[in-house]
Amino acid sequence: MLLWVVAALTLAVGVTWADTPANCTFDDIRGDWLLYETERTGDAGIDCDDMGPIIHRTEVSLMYPNIAVDEYGNRGTWTMIYNQGFEIKVAGRSYFAFSLWEKTGDTVLSICDKTLTGWSRDITVRNWACYRAQKKEQGPRKSHELRLMAQENSLYKYNKAYLNDINSQQSNWVADVYPEYERMTLMDHLRRNGGRASATASRMHPGPISFMTRLRDLSLPESWDWRNVSGTNYVSPVRNQGNCGSCYAFASMGGLESRVRILTNNHQKPVFAPQDVVGCSKLSQGCEGGFPFLIAGRYAQDVGVVLENCYPYEGKDDTCTRSSCTKHYTAYYRYVGGYYGACNEEEMKIALIKGGPLIVGLEVYDDFLHYKSGIYHHTGLRDSFNPLELTNHAVLLVGYGEDETTGEKYWSVKNSWGEGWGEDGYFRIRRGVDECAIESMAVEAVPIP
Ligand SMILES: *[C@@H]1O[C@H](CO)[C@@H](O)[C@H](O)[C@H]1NC(C)=O
Ligand SMILES: *[C@@H]1O[C@H](CO)[C@@H](O)[C@H](O)[C@H]1NC(C)=O
Repeated sequence: MLLWVVAALTLAVGVTWADTPANCTFDDIRGDWLLYETERTGDAGIDCDDMGPIIHRTEVSLMYPNIAVDEYGNRGTWTMIYNQGFEIKVAGRSYFAFSLWEKTGDTVLSICDKTLTGWSRDITVRNWACYRAQKKEQGPRKSHELRLMAQENSLYKYNKAYLNDINSQQSNWVADVYPEYERMTLMDHLRRNGGRASATASRMHPGPISFMTRLRDLSLPESWDWRNVSGTNYVSPVRNQGNCGSCYAFASMGGLESRVRILTNNHQKPVFAPQDVVGCSKLSQGCEGGFPFLIAGRYAQDVGVVLENCYPYEGKDDTCTRSSCTKHYTAYYRYVGGYYGACNEEEMKIALIKGGPLIVGLEVYDDFLHYKSGIYHHTGLRDSFNPLELTNHAVLLVGYGEDETTGEKYWSVKNSWGEGWGEDGYFRIRRGVDECAIESMAVEAVPIP
C-alpha cells in the first residue's frame, strides 16, 4: 500500500450540488486515467465531503466503446452517464464520480479531465472509499453560458393559436388545455419538465443492431403492455411530482415498483419514496434533477430505497430523514445495450419483455406539455408566447404496439404528471425513430423483492 501525495489533485472544490452540471462528452472522457482512493475500509455511510489521505492509486484506460483495462491488464467496463460523469467497473471494484465543473457568474467551465470527489466500493458493495480521478493528459476546458430567461417568474398563459396550430398541422395526436398550468410560473414548468437544460449532450447514435438481436426481435410479439399481460396489471399507479424536478426519482421508483410486482407475481406491491431520493441522494440534485441510472441503479444498490409511507412525498427539497426506514435494494442495473450509447429499439423491446418496464429519458418540448391523446411526435412548432427551453425528462416505458388503422408504431409510457394528464397519466410516442431521444438512454434496474 502506497501513500500518495495529493499534490496532483489540488481541487478547490468540495462536493457541491447544483443544477449546472458539466458538459463532458465521450471523446472528452475516453483515454488514460489515474484513480485515487482513500483507505478502503468505509461502509455505505462514508462521508466523502472531505476526501482524506490518498492510499490507493490505480491506472485505468477507458476505451471504445465500453472497455476499461487497468495497469495489470484486468479487463472491465465503463459507461458515461449522459454528459455528467462516468462509472467504471474493473478488478472487482466499482467507481463513480461526477465530472468537475466550476461556475463563475453565468459561465460554467467543464473540466472534463478531472472529477469531483465520488465513491468507490467493491462489487459486493463493501469496502468503500472516497475516490477522485484525473486524466493523465490534460484535456480541453470547455465553457458555456447559462441561459437565463427573463420571464421565469411570470405565470404561464395559454396561447390558443399555438394549440390550434398543433391540432391543425397533424392528426397523429391531440393537444389540449390543462387549466392547472395557468397557476404555474414558467420556472415551475421548467422544473417539472426535468429542470433547465444547462448543456445539451451531443447525442450518441443508436447502437448497432447485431444479427442475433434482429433474429430475437423477429420472435417478439407485435405488441406488449405490462398494464395488461393476459389480464394482469404489473404497473403501480400513476403519481404526480408537482412542481419539483423529481421526474427521475418517480420514474426510478416506478420502475422498481413494477419489477417487484413482476418478480413476485403481484404478491408484493410496494410504493417507494421519491422524497427519500430528493432529500437524501448525493447522486442527484434534489428538485433540480438527476439521472435514473444513478438512482434506480447505483443509489438503490448502494444505500437502498425506502417505502413511501416511511418517507411521504413533499415535492420540495428537505433534509434527509431516512434513518429509521427499512431499505430495499437493487441487485443489478445497466443501460440497455450495456452502456450509454448502445441503446436501440430492438434491445429495448427485448429487455422490456424479458425483465419489465424500462426507465427512459425524453427531450420535452413545449408541445408535449399539451399532449392529450394519440401517438406523440414533436411538431417542431415553438410556443413563442411561453419560451420554455429544451429540457430532459425521465419517464417509465411499459409497452409498445402499432396503431390499428395507420400502422404507426408507438411506445406506451407512464408519466408522473397525475392521472388527469394525457391518456390517464400515460402517453404514446413514435417508436423506431428515436423520437425526442426516447431510444437513447433506457435503463433497467432489477430490485431484490
Ligand atoms: C456540449 O459539448 C458538445 C461537444 O463538445 C457541444 O457540441 C455542445 O454544444 C456543448 N453544449 C453546450 C451547451 O456547451
Ligand atoms: C386486456 O387485454 C385483453 C386482450 O387484449 C382485453 O380483452 C382486455 O379487455 C384487457 N383488459 C383490460 C383490463 O384492459
